[in-house]
Amino acid sequence: MQQPLPDGGVIRKLWIGEADRYRDHLLRLDAESRHGRFGGGVSDEFIAQYVATTLGLNTVVHGYFVDGVLRGAGELRPLGPAFAREAEAAFSIETPWQSLGVGSALLERTLLAARNRGIKKLHMACLASNRRMQELARKFQAELTFDFGSVVGEVAAPRPTPLSVLREAVADSHGFATAMLDVQSRMIRAG
Ligand SMILES: CC(C)(COP(=O)(O)OP(=O)(O)OC[C@H]1O[C@@H](n2cnc3c(N)ncnc32)[C@H](O)[C@@H]1OP(=O)(O)O)[C@@H](O)C(=O)NCCC(=O)NCCS
Repeated sequence: MQQPLPDGGVIRKLWIGEADRYRDHLLRLDAESRHGRFGGGVSDEFIAQYVATTLGLNTVVHGYFVDGVLRGAGELRPLGPAFAREAEAAFSIETPWQSLGVGSALLERTLLAARNRGIKKLHMACLASNRRMQELARKFQAELTFDFGSVVGEVAAPRPTPLSVLREAVADSHGFATAMLDVQSRMIRAG
């Protein structure tokens, strides 16, 4: 049974046309979180460029939405050509929603997506000194072993199972319905 997310938030995959929402979320991160997310201080221009290039067909971004606004994200980017066995994962939660379990929920969804794509190695895009990220990783030790020295984690269950694919599909159909409601409510507000 999954814990309810804070502030009635929902997690769903971002659509390819939602790059602006992802960019705006990353721009809202405070200096410390931005540093943690990108492994150093980066400019607003860097973030805009990063989002424009990273949201390709292969990248899977799960978003945490509160009242239709993206407040957290988990990114899974396969490294190399199609059917890559390695991917990079990165997480970002805006400060008021940190330490409330959102990172754990996003990591869970990201791991499921990684598993279903046959990814065996996950590079965690964060500094070895990021204690909270390490704590988060420790919770998933049964599924994933992390080496923060070299910043690599290994997905323990390498093969997708029918159940794991179904879990992702079910999660997406829920996300899809929520996304439709979100679009509708924005249309109503705009009208
Ligand atoms: C790192 C980050 C993704 C973690 O997400 P989160 O939603 O804050 O983390 P969670 O609430 O799921 O907590 C995960 C675990 O971290 C630990 N933790 C939570 N808050 C903590 C704190 N303030 N200090 C130390 N450890 C903490 C706990 O062990 C927690 O597990 P528990 O709640 O079962 O005890 C998030 O804080 C964030 O976006 N930080 C800024 C960007 C960043 O550093 N990204 C990582 C680069 S990939």
